[in-house]
Amino acid sequence: MGAAASDGRPRLTYQRVLYPLARSFLFSLDPEVAHDLTLTKLDHAAAFGLTRLVAARITDLPVRAMGLDFRNPVGLAAGMDKNAAHVDALGSFGFGHIEAGTVTPLPQPGNPKPRLFRLIPAQALINRMGFNNDGVERFVANVRRQTAFRSHGGILGLNIGKNAATPIERAVDDYVLGLRAVYPHADYVTVNISSPNTKDLRSLQGERELVALLRALADERHRLEDRHQDRVPLAIKIAPDLEDSAIPALADVLVREGVDGVIATNTTIARDAVRGLKHADEAGGLSGGPLRQRSTEVVQRLAEHLQGRLPIIAVGGIVDAADAAEKIRAGAALVQIYTGFIYRGPQLVGECVEAIRRDRATTGAAGRQRSRAA
Ligand SMILES: Cc1cc2nc3c(=O)[nH]c(=O)nc-3n(C[C@H](O)[C@H](O)[C@H](O)COP(=O)(O)O)c2cc1C
Repeated sequence: MGAAASDGRPRLTYQRVLYPLARSFLFSLDPEVAHDLTLTKLDHAAAFGLTRLVAARITDLPVRAMGLDFRNPVGLAAGMDKNAAHVDALGSFGFGHIEAGTVTPLPQPGNPKPRLFRLIPAQALINRMGFNNDGVERFVANVRRQTAFRSHGGILGLNIGKNAATPIERAVDDYVLGLRAVYPHADYVTVNISSPNTKDLRSLQGERELVALLRALADERHRLEDRHQDRVPLAIKIAPDLEDSAIPALADVLVREGVDGVIATNTTIARDAVRGLKHADEAGGLSGGPLRQRSTEVVQRLAEHLQGRLPIIAVGGIVDAADAAEKIRAGAALVQIYTGFIYRGPQLVGECVEAIRRDRATTGAAGRQRSRAA
């Protein structure tokens, strides 16, 4: 996919030609309309056999992390497929893993529209979607219908959150409910405590709150492990807006409480990098290009402190292949993309895999060792 041909010239794939055309049409629409239309069209394509391409599209560059074997290190970040309704169709773009959700126990509409904005000169988005989703029951039914991606070795992460109407003091109940519902259907489960669009959610990153949440989830996981005879890894997704000084303590809590991986980072509430751009003052989380540096710094700080005790999944601002390689060099085992996928199209997936492959070949065994922290 988009890799260099044997003569060294970039291969002219359909993605290189078609995506810029498709993008100019899609960018003429309201961002959320474009998002929904793209996923619907993808499903139509899937119905006509696109899902048969899944195996052919996944480029192999194996990584073992959280006890799982990923076919390649590049995944789709949470939020694009909130209801897990398009996993097989999205899988045909070559991702090694897809994270569906965030799902909440009950269906909820999310925030009023408009709630998604493009900041085109910065290759960025601001969203305040607010966990719009159809609830965990529909989510699980959707997951059960999607079998192509996983049957070809794709890893499916399911990302859980809390309902807006649940008081923050009762948040643990929602996460436990979510874990119980998705557990038998997930390769790994992500606990999202870092969205800026659900009131007080990020306070769950505080040490006391985090320990209480992780202990409740660990208890539930023990029960689920016994019942299903399967230990499903748990990852925690954190914000880029944490103070640097809070990162080591948070990392220690994750290790101590038996978490299997850390996903860094969610969107940012900072706006310094986009001041003056149209939509820069919209409330919500900023993603894409302007997030890259801070997100990489968080990965670096985690990696320095963790020294391989937990694998890091890096997400935030990967808009080209070099950005993906940078995240791996900073200490990540895996990367995820969202906003870059919107701006650059499906070719970004293969380009990131190839950049990481090239980097691995030159950084040698030390880098490989670090990136495989399991
Ligand atoms: C429109 C939109 C919706 C998102 N929804 C979620 C979500 O439901 N759960 C979540 O954990 N992250 C969500 N994210 C955050 C992304 O998963 C990712 O962490 C963030 O956008 C940074 O990566 P990027 O710069 O590659 O987009 C969302 C991002 C966007 C742009």
